[in-house]
Amino acid sequence: MDRVVLLTGATSGIGREAARKLAERGATVLFTGRDREAGADVLSAVRAAAPESGGEFYPVDFADFDAVRELARTVRTEYDRLDALVNNAGTSRSERRTTEDGVELTFAVNHLAPFLLTNLLAPRLRASAPARVVTTSSALHENGSLSDLDAVVRGEEFDALDAYADSKLANVLFTRELADRLAGTGVTANCVHPGWIPGTRLVRNATGFSRLFTSAASLVASVAPVGPFESVSGAADALVSLATSDEVADVSGAYFDRRERASPAAAVNDEELRTRLWRRSAELVGLPASVPEGDPLR
Ligand SMILES: NC(=O)c1ccc[n+]([C@@H]2O[C@H](COP(=O)([O-])OP(=O)(O)OC[C@H]3O[C@@H](n4cnc5c(N)ncnc54)[C@H](OP(=O)(O)O)[C@@H]3O)[C@@H](O)[C@H]2O)c1
Repeated sequence: MDRVVLLTGATSGIGREAARKLAERGATVLFTGRDREAGADVLSAVRAAAPESGGEFYPVDFADFDAVRELARTVRTEYDRLDALVNNAGTSRSERRTTEDGVELTFAVNHLAPFLLTNLLAPRLRASAPARVVTTSSALHENGSLSDLDAVVRGEEFDALDAYADSKLANVLFTRELADRLAGTGVTANCVHPGWIPGTRLVRNATGFSRLFTSAASLVASVAPVGPFESVSGAADALVSLATSDEVADVSGAYFDRRERASPAAAVNDEELRTRLWRRSAELVGLPASVPEGDPLR
């Protein structure tokens, strides 16, 4: 496999494991995260696994949209092809915080940053077709609601779990809309619930009740991944499969529960909501609503 894959959020958890697995399959793995020390460790592992293909670490904070724009420019300058973009970076915050643009941080990092990155890289993906966009969502998207989109954007009446669920619903709506907009280009877009993985930093940083819950879940999962629980390795396999497997080469607009196709929340079928989210997201990151048509970096 001589693919070039850009994987976000690979300095820990599922992404870190997926980076190594992709490199073992011969891919050139470009990856992101904020933690430079962890990034250097992962880069060594990636280059050791794929000495011929190499790899690159880009330290980027997804709360900073200028840094996301810079990342897209750099990848497009340094690589003339991109076979897969895996939008995996994600966060869950216990307290309300906003970005410099005044957007609630969970929504900015989990939805707006991948929205921006994907649209800036879409011309490179189209030119490399067949190519894929894979986005890590969560089964918690079923608890999300984006009917009052501006309240979500501003983080009004902030609740950590709701903010996370809303951002993960945005991931699924984004994927479906992107798949429609990319139909016929040879670029597919799918998203995935990777399972519940108590061992990653995302869940370890949870507070209160969820911390109690995750401690119990950790005990269960340390014995064996059962039911909804998954190992970090199993979750990474789900991402790697969507990014590379021939079995899903022609599937687009789908939601997967690990490696099985599944039905997302009914809200995902709401065309008006999908369009409204797309337009507002474009406005918030300064792109024309017509993306991914055209090339915003030209
Ligand atoms: N664990 C679960 O049970 C579970 C279940 C469903 C879905 N998910 C989803 O799976 C994905 C991976 O999560 P994980 O469980 O592997 O968690 P994790 O161990 O916390 O990894 C999250 C990754 O995202 C990066 N990240 C976080 N905030 C960022 C920011 N502001 N800017 C740039 N990068 C940022 C982190 O890197 P730095 O800290 O270096 O920035 C890290 O590489 C997420 O999208 C999450 O929502 C996880």
